[in-house]
Amino acid sequence: MAPVTNPRIVFKERPQEGLPIAGKHIVLDSSHTIDLENVPLNGGYLTKSLVLSPEPAMRERMRDPSITSYTTTYITGAPIVAFAVVVVVRSEKEEVKVGQYMYGQTPWEAYTVQPYIEGRVKFEPDQWAPGTFDMDSLVLQPVPDPKGAYPLSTYTNILGTPGMTAFVGMEGVLQGKKDETLFVSSGASGVGSLVIQLAKMKGMKVIASAGSDAKVKFMLSLGADNAFNYKKESYGEALKKYGPIHAFWDNVGAEALDAALEFCLPQARFAICGASGTDSIPYDDRYRLKNASQIQKKRLKIQGFVVPDYIPQFAAQFFQEVPALVAQGKLKSKENTVGEKWDDVPQSIADMLKSGHDIVGKPVVTVGSV
Ligand SMILES: NC(=O)c1ccc[n+]([C@@H]2O[C@H](COP(=O)([O-])OP(=O)(O)OC[C@H]3O[C@@H](n4cnc5c(N)ncnc54)[C@H](OP(=O)(O)O)[C@@H]3O)[C@@H](O)[C@H]2O)c1
Repeated sequence: MAPVTNPRIVFKERPQEGLPIAGKHIVLDSSHTIDLENVPLNGGYLTKSLVLSPEPAMRERMRDPSITSYTTTYITGAPIVAFAVVVVVRSEKEEVKVGQYMYGQTPWEAYTVQPYIEGRVKFEPDQWAPGTFDMDSLVLQPVPDPKGAYPLSTYTNILGTPGMTAFVGMEGVLQGKKDETLFVSSGASGVGSLVIQLAKMKGMKVIASAGSDAKVKFMLSLGADNAFNYKKESYGEALKKYGPIHAFWDNVGAEALDAALEFCLPQARFAICGASGTDSIPYDDRYRLKNASQIQKKRLKIQGFVVPDYIPQFAAQFFQEVPALVAQGKLKSKENTVGEKWDDVPQSIADMLKSGHDIVGKPVVTVGSV
């Protein structure tokens, strides 16, 4: 068979501030080809990309390496390495079979000889700030459902990183309790939508926010008791009306965090999962907290967390409980196909990072089929 085109998504240039621009910072490179039958595997295996998952952590990985954060950064000129579901098309590795679905961090290109090393960060811990997590150490794993009972896109959402994040955060960090009131910011995101559902299963009252009316409807359909559009009603107004809160799950930071500090009860617990409200904003322009003194006055317990830290402790419980609840229809996973070809991928990343967009459900790009 003649070589085929092997499109890839390249991290061309670091956005100095603000959002990345498709075609400038993230580009499609269609100049490569691959001979699928003869490319040397060197004892590894060849995968075909099927479903790509644009995720907020990608913005963090685009920052300048001199800026301290919790992840390693992307290498300019190399393919973007991020979460995807792939299928094995050839293998020289005994435990990896042709036709097997795998998921995890992988270069965003149509075909890849695995394990992929070339464009990954060579992690030297002393070159990074203490606590930096080597994202590239997260290699592909077989999907835990070889029979294919779940749609593959589910592995980018409830059965993938967002689902695991919500689960470990709820069990290991927030430890929600019956009859408590929880506020979830960005409640329509992949993570937030599962937090709402897990909190309801625990008997909590849930207040949730997002940036569009369609998302408000979605959050109510997941069981949120009160949901609001922060573009129409301020976080403060909404929490004054629906609060006070015992617990806060924060995906946004900025105004959401400030309002939670003001309208929480003494001894409230905060699980800080993300900061999408500030991720793409230059440092000097960021919102300044007005209510930070409440941390001491109300004796708050505030904990930031990163999901890989909790995987060893909670992975087994997650895989035992969550897929079964999805199969029984007790937990819902909503994915939104925002593109179906490689040309769509750079824009899908830029769109995912914008606030208040109307993509309801976890954005995915389906670039391949079996
Ligand atoms: N700690 C961890 O280990 C970990 C792991 C995975 C994800 N996360 C975090 O969890 C959060 C959700 O992730 P996901 O993968 O579920 O995301 P997602 O489904 O892609 O949704 C991200 C949402 O963030 C919101 N957003 C973007 N810019 C915003 C802004 N300026 N102000 C307010 N909201 C804004 C948007 O919705 P609306 O504006 O409509 O709300 C967007 O839909 C993110 O903060 C992410 O960084 C953390």
